Amino acid sequence: MVNAAAIVAAAALLGAVPVSAGLYSKNSPVLQLDGKSYDRLIAQSNYTSIVEFYAPWCGHCKNLQPAYEKAAKSLAGLAKVGAVDCDEESNKPFCGSFGVQGFPTLKIVKPGKTPGKPIVEDYNGPRTAKGIVDALVDKIPNYVKKVEDKTLEKWLADSKDTPKAILFTDKGKTSALMKSIAIEFKGAIEVAQIRNTDKEKASKELFGITEFPTLLLLPGGKEAKEGIIYDGELKKEPMVKFLSQAASPNPDPAPPKVKVSKSKEKKKDEKKKEEKKASKDKEEFESASSSHASQDGQTAGATATEEVLEEAPTESPQPEVDTQKPIVLPDPAPLISTIETEAELATECLGERTGTCILVLLPETSDEISQKAITSLSELAHKYKQRQRSIFPFYGVSSANPSSKNLKASLKLGDTTQIIAVNGRRGWWRQASETLSEQDVTEESIENFVDAIRLGEGSKKKIPAGMIPETPEEPSETEEADVTVTLEKPAVTETILVEEVKEEAVEEKADVHDEL
Ligand SMILES: *[C@@H]1O[C@H](CO)[C@@H](O)[C@H](O)[C@H]1NC(C)=O
Repeated sequence: MVNAAAIVAAAALLGAVPVSAGLYSKNSPVLQLDGKSYDRLIAQSNYTSIVEFYAPWCGHCKNLQPAYEKAAKSLAGLAKVGAVDCDEESNKPFCGSFGVQGFPTLKIVKPGKTPGKPIVEDYNGPRTAKGIVDALVDKIPNYVKKVEDKTLEKWLADSKDTPKAILFTDKGKTSALMKSIAIEFKGAIEVAQIRNTDKEKASKELFGITEFPTLLLLPGGKEAKEGIIYDGELKKEPMVKFLSQAASPNPDPAPPKVKVSKSKEKKKDEKKKEEKKASKDKEEFESASSSHASQDGQTAGATATEEVLEEAPTESPQPEVDTQKPIVLPDPAPLISTIETEAELATECLGERTGTCILVLLPETSDEISQKAITSLSELAHKYKQRQRSIFPFYGVSSANPSSKNLKASLKLGDTTQIIAVNGRRGWWRQASETLSEQDVTEESIENFVDAIRLGEGSKKKIPAGMIPETPEEPSETEEADVTVTLEKPAVTETILVEEVKEEAVEEKADVHDEL
């Protein structure tokens, strides 16, 4: 019979079984990503990356897998190769925020001017290892300075105490390997290359270089006489080790910032605030939810039990946090849904009879603000759910959704991430902030915005005429015809592939929607 030991054993076994069967195993050279690790490993990186958005059951994804892993192997140390399983429930909004519509979708992510705000572009090249490797190698950021006899002195004098490394080479082009070395030591060692030509003599003579290629390290940054010549293999690992005697390579990912836990005082304050709101909550909740009653079966039950739950402790008491002990994190909040189609937005939030919705209008490329906004709203939704309290729905609206552009245009909003509240039935809308800063997208700030809406505080604007369609729009036949025309445009050899992909995308879209 079942005994405690058997249960423990079974639980241990279950724990060992992978939760989801993604395409890439643990030992794969392909990094498996989700929203959080994407931010840490890809968005914050000084390297260029490629990210595949896939579903494990998709045929083209399975076909791509061997080539993709081969590319990852060739690019090891030069560029990052990652994949996101968009079939994983918790990844869906993340995939949606990239406007992923079909699988596989490949995006190249290059570091931008501001750390953490990369430039994302589509990869539409051949789905072969070579195609991917060539495209990525071409986009590795180049921090290797090309120096000549006449510029050497100035280069040595600039940031003169920073250690320097010089590659003397016959080649004019900078290799991917040298670029990766410069990235590895970005900000810590200045890297240059000097080409070996007949007319460039002074530099070679200054450092006594006679063989090419030669890597020279100047640990103090300027003195020729202290130069150390590298005599190992021209491979990344030993070269990094050699240069590490002058400065440490950048840790990747960057070490996490330490989060300070909230003081007890603050917790108490929040609780008081919470209680004060409770009575007003109910009114707003009832009016806000009445229009959702038909869509949300839980509503009736929640209303009936709310009073009781209000009195009972709504969550287990906060343990005394001992700073010596590791803090056990609560369950992560599931991310809020992303609305991909015009029709869905119309039925959920922009109808004649829809109640209050909070919408995050996402930018074309996901960035720190948009991700943080989604995370904060997800945390908030989760908090309400855990307390079994009802709240109007929160949604992300993908920039791929045509409504998003229209909405931004008719409400005269910028192209960046926007957080708005709308109420179709009552014809009002409100914006959290004209331009969202990092502070505006913390859970606290967003909660304040949501609270103001719940409590009916602050001024609302009238929805411009025509924004709420009188009848939900159906996709017109002409639009469908257009799609077919585009499909026939690509070269004959590619048409089949493109058509297959589009077909799959259409099927998938239906699927993703049902579950979102
Ligand atoms: C990126 O480069 C900067 C120097 O410009 C460095 O401080 C930072 O640690 C690097 N980040 C990573 C993740 O390597």
